Amino acid sequence: MASSKPASSRSKSSNGNGSRRSASSRSEDAISLLKADHREVERLFEEYQQTDDTAGKAELAQQICQELTIHAMIEEEIFYPACRREGIDDMMLDEAQVEHDGAKNLIMELEAGSPDDDFYDAKVVVLSEMIKHHVNEEEKRGGIFTKARQAGMDLDRLGKQLEKRKQELMSEAEAGDLPKPQMLSMMMQPAGIAPAE
Ligand SMILES: [Fe+2]
Ligand SMILES: [Fe+2]
Repeated sequence: MASSKPASSRSKSSNGNGSRRSASSRSEDAISLLKADHREVERLFEEYQQTDDTAGKAELAQQICQELTIHAMIEEEIFYPACRREGIDDMMLDEAQVEHDGAKNLIMELEAGSPDDDFYDAKVVVLSEMIKHHVNEEEKRGGIFTKARQAGMDLDRLGKQLEKRKQELMSEAEAGDLPKPQMLSMMMQPAGIAPAE
C-alpha cells in the first residue's frame, strides 16, 4: 500500500531522476495518495540530512515546506472534514489539526530563513520529528486512516478530489501564489496571517 512512488508531478528534479509520472495519469484512493505524500516528504528529509551545501539544503527545505503545506491543505480542506462527517473520533482529528498547526510555525521559519542561519538545521530536524509522529498517528493501526477505511468512506472519490486540489495548489506554488498557511486551531496567529474564520 505504502508505495515509494513519488506523489508529486513536479517537473523539476534536484537529483536528476526526472522520470516522475504525472500524478493525473493514475488514480489513487485517498489513503494511497496521502501515504505517497508521506513517503515523498520522508525521502526529502533524508536527502536533506545527506546534503552539505547551502544551495542544496535551501532547495530541499523549500521542497519540504511546499510538499507539507500542500499536503496539510488538502487534508484540512477535504480529507479531515470528510472524516468528521463520517463520525471519526473528533479528538483524534483535533489533535491532528494542532499537530499540523505546530508544524506550520517551523515551516514559516524555514521559508523565511537560510541554511546558513543559526538553528536552521535543528529546525529541519525538529520538523522531521514532528512530521514522523504525525504520520504515525495517521497511518498506525487504529489511526485516522484505519478509521476512515472502517467507516466505509468513498475513498476513490475522495482521492480524485484530493488529487485535483493538489494539482491546483501545485500550480499556485509554481507561480509563487501559494497562500500562507492558516493556523486553524490556534488563537495566536503569526504576524501577517489572518485569523482563521
Ligand atoms: Fe498526512
Ligand atoms: Fe496530517
